Amino acid sequence: MKETPIFLRACKREPTEYTPVWLMRQAGRFLKEYRSLRRQHSFLTLCKTPELATQVTLLPIEKLKVDAAIIFADILLPLEPMGIDLEFTKGEGPVIHNPPRSRAEIEKLKHIEAEKDLPFVMEAIKQVCHKLTGRIPLIGFSGAPFTLASYLLEGGGTKNFIRTKSLMYQDPPCWHLLMERLSEAIISYLKAQVRAGAAVVQLFDSWAGALSPQDYKEFVFPHSQRVFHALSTKVPAIHFATGTSGILESMQEAGGDIIGIDWRIDLGEAWQRLGYDIGIQGNLDPTALLGPPERIESKVEEILHAAEGRPGHIFNLGHGVLPQTPEENAITMVEAVHRLSKDR
Ligand code: CP3
Repeated sequence: MKETPIFLRACKREPTEYTPVWLMRQAGRFLKEYRSLRRQHSFLTLCKTPELATQVTLLPIEKLKVDAAIIFADILLPLEPMGIDLEFTKGEGPVIHNPPRSRAEIEKLKHIEAEKDLPFVMEAIKQVCHKLTGRIPLIGFSGAPFTLASYLLEGGGTKNFIRTKSLMYQDPPCWHLLMERLSEAIISYLKAQVRAGAAVVQLFDSWAGALSPQDYKEFVFPHSQRVFHALSTKVPAIHFATGTSGILESMQEAGGDIIGIDWRIDLGEAWQRLGYDIGIQGNLDPTALLGPPERIESKVEEILHAAEGRPGHIFNLGHGVLPQTPEENAITMVEAVHRLSKDR
C-alpha cells in the first residue's frame, strides 16, 4: 500500500518527518516557462485548455520540490457561466464588464452546474491527478463568497471596497441574496473539483480582512459557514484570508481544517488563539523571497520556531508569490523549510 503523502498527514495534524510546504500562486508568472507559454496563449486560454492547464500546474512541482500541487485556474472563472463578462487585461488584472448594479441584475445571475459549465477545470484536475499518481496531493480551490462578491461588484480589484460595502450597508437583503447565489456556485464548483480528484480544497477569502469583525460576522460568516458545511467530511479544507487578526476566531467558526494566515500576525500567537485542534498555514511575507538566501533562511527558521514543531503546520507564504521573485529564491525557501524542520 502506498504511503499517505506528508501534506495530507499534516492536514490531519498527524506528525510528519518534516514540515510540508507549497506556495500560493506557485503556478504562475514567476516561472520562466509560464511566461513563455503566456507569450503564445492568453491567460483564459491556458485555463480553458486542460492540456495546457495541466502543464502549468506541474511546472513548479519538480522545480521547487513542493509537497502539493494546486490546479491552475482562477477564482473568477465560475463568474463567466453565471453570465459575467470577464477579461484579464495586461496592466489592470481582471476586469468585469457587466458588474450587477441592481437587485434585478443580481437575480438574473445564472445558477451553475460546475461539471457542465466549467468542464475544462475538471478535465485538467483529472489529467493532473493521473500524472501525479498520488505522490503528492492536488489542491482544488475557489474564491470565498465575500472575495468573489467584491470583484463582481467593483468590476475588478479595489482598495476601499466602496461598492461592496455600500450594498452591504444600504440593502442587506440584496447583499445576502448575492452572497447566497455565489455560495451555491462555489459549493457546486468545489464539490465537482473533489469528484474530479482534488484531495484538499482551499477557500480564498483574500480580502475578508478589509471588514470590521462585526461586519464579517453579520455579512460574511453565515455564507462561508454554509460553504464549509456543504463540503464537510469529504476532504481537508484550508480557509485562507489576509489581515485576519480581527476575524481569526470567526473564520475558524465558519469552518476549515486549516486556517491560512498572512505575515501581519505572528503564527505562534495566531495558533494559540485558535487552539491546537486545528491546523495552520503560513506565513512568510512574499517580499522576503526577493531578499538574500541568508535572510530567507532566517525568516523560515523564525516561522518554524513559532510553530514549535507541532503537527498541523503547513508552510506557505502569507499571500501569493510575487511575479518578480527569482526562481532560485523559492527553491531556497522550500529546501530550507524541509531541512530546518527535519532538524527540529
Ligand atoms: O496558486 C496557483 O498557482 C494556482 C492558480 C491561481 C491563479 N489565481 C492563477 C492566476 C490561483 C489559486 C489564483 C487565485 C486568485 N485569483 C485569487 C486569490 C489569491 C490571492 O492572490 O488573493 C485572486 C484574488 C484572483 C484574481 C486574480 N486573478 C487577479 C487579481 C489577477 C491579476 C493579478 C495577479 O495577481 O496576477 C489574476 C490573474 C491570474 N490568476 C494570473 C495567474 C497565474 C496571472 C495571469 C497572467 O498570466 O497574466
